[in-house]
Amino acid sequence: MNKNFLWGASSSSFQSEGMWKKAGQGPSVIEIEQHGNLQSFQIGVDFYHHYKNDIKLMKEAGLKAFRFSISWSRVFPTGTGKPNAVGVNFYRNLINELAKAKIEPIVTIYHFDYPLALVKKYGGWISRKSIADYLYYCNFLFKEFGNTVKYWVTINEQDHIVKIPQRLGFKHGGFKEHMQDCYQANHYMSIASSLAIKLCHTILPKAKIGPAVSYQPYYPATEKTQDIEAAKTANLLTQKYILDLQCKATYSKKFQNYLKEKSIHLKLKPDDFKCLKEGKPDFIGINYYSSNIVKFLPSESNKGEIEGKPIPKKEYGLYAIQNDPTLPTTKWGWTIDPKGLRIALEQIYQQYHLPILITENGYGDEDKFLGGNITDSSRIKYLKDHINELIKAINENIPVMGYCIWSFTDVISGHNGSDKRYGLIYVDKNMNRIPKQSFNFYKNIIRRLNGDV
Ligand code: BG6
Repeated sequence: MNKNFLWGASSSSFQSEGMWKKAGQGPSVIEIEQHGNLQSFQIGVDFYHHYKNDIKLMKEAGLKAFRFSISWSRVFPTGTGKPNAVGVNFYRNLINELAKAKIEPIVTIYHFDYPLALVKKYGGWISRKSIADYLYYCNFLFKEFGNTVKYWVTINEQDHIVKIPQRLGFKHGGFKEHMQDCYQANHYMSIASSLAIKLCHTILPKAKIGPAVSYQPYYPATEKTQDIEAAKTANLLTQKYILDLQCKATYSKKFQNYLKEKSIHLKLKPDDFKCLKEGKPDFIGINYYSSNIVKFLPSESNKGEIEGKPIPKKEYGLYAIQNDPTLPTTKWGWTIDPKGLRIALEQIYQQYHLPILITENGYGDEDKFLGGNITDSSRIKYLKDHINELIKAINENIPVMGYCIWSFTDVISGHNGSDKRYGLIYVDKNMNRIPKQSFNFYKNIIRRLNGDV
């Protein structure tokens, strides 16, 4: 295995840091989305105060890379303007600490927590103005941290932000979460991402930068032509359209026809596609957790199950996305499909011919600490099977740059709060860190595959 392979782990600011709206941090749209779990997010796993200790544990595990996100509103409390020195200092210390431990930082610039002030000001990503503010923030980060940070992720799971419109925070700006606005936001986010890539290439010519998308293979439910066609359509309409835009600077004709049918008319400028062409990613980040099967869904009188909301799981006349009943699932019904990881890597590489960084992969469970060892054997099996498929993909010459487990310590789950844990390290109510068995498993994997033993 290549010695430079980035064996890593991932997290995000709002799910780990805590210190919510403290030390100068401004509010973000996450407040709206996470109403049920807000308290957990306010505290996170107190990474803000525990980062040094966590990095010590990362070093012990032999991690080569740590992917974390910067909270935009911790750096710019109102999204733009004057930076918050305390927040900037926090990230500088964190990055320096990683450098001391020889762990490569992979920085996600924006991971769901869009500054609330910008939504209130002009609606956030609904407006073209959002592009300039995102670039202002990126420019600051590249100049401030560019001497130590070589790997950057522009936007985490833009496909999910479009799919879960609360993450755009429109409501708070008095806007509706209509499909038209979500796809317009997607367009502006893609341009912002491409301009950030271009800017990064200018300021930091040695750095590598790309988006991270959530990707799952869609298998046809049967061998019938209509199911094969439905799976292709579901793939295009839920994830491929974003990669086509960001990596090939185009909306396919089929996707354009779909928008037309939904009476969605995007505001486009001819220059937009020039920006997209010039800001080609260096790599594609993928977050892989599960796969789905797809069957054709005949037309009904009601077109589109959730009218007005983008990317439903069922589109009458097009497709229905389902779990494969033959595969096991996590307690939250996420299909476990290690082969799907290799298939995802193959599909993405065949289409875009770019290196791939696995930015997230992990297993959510209700781990319990009852004293003694935390035996998370299901997580170990999940990771082992996925890493095996990753190795097969690398042996098939797919250029994979690294693999980041979600997550290093437990963090607060995006959908399920503190009930669902992903970490290699358990975090208890008092914020104590207790390594699970998977911690040792990963440590041994890294040592063995990195050729250290
Ligand atoms: C990804 C996100 O979608 O999946 C993470 O980038 C998230 O932020 C992870 O935590 C797992 O999802 P969940 O909802 O189980 O925490």
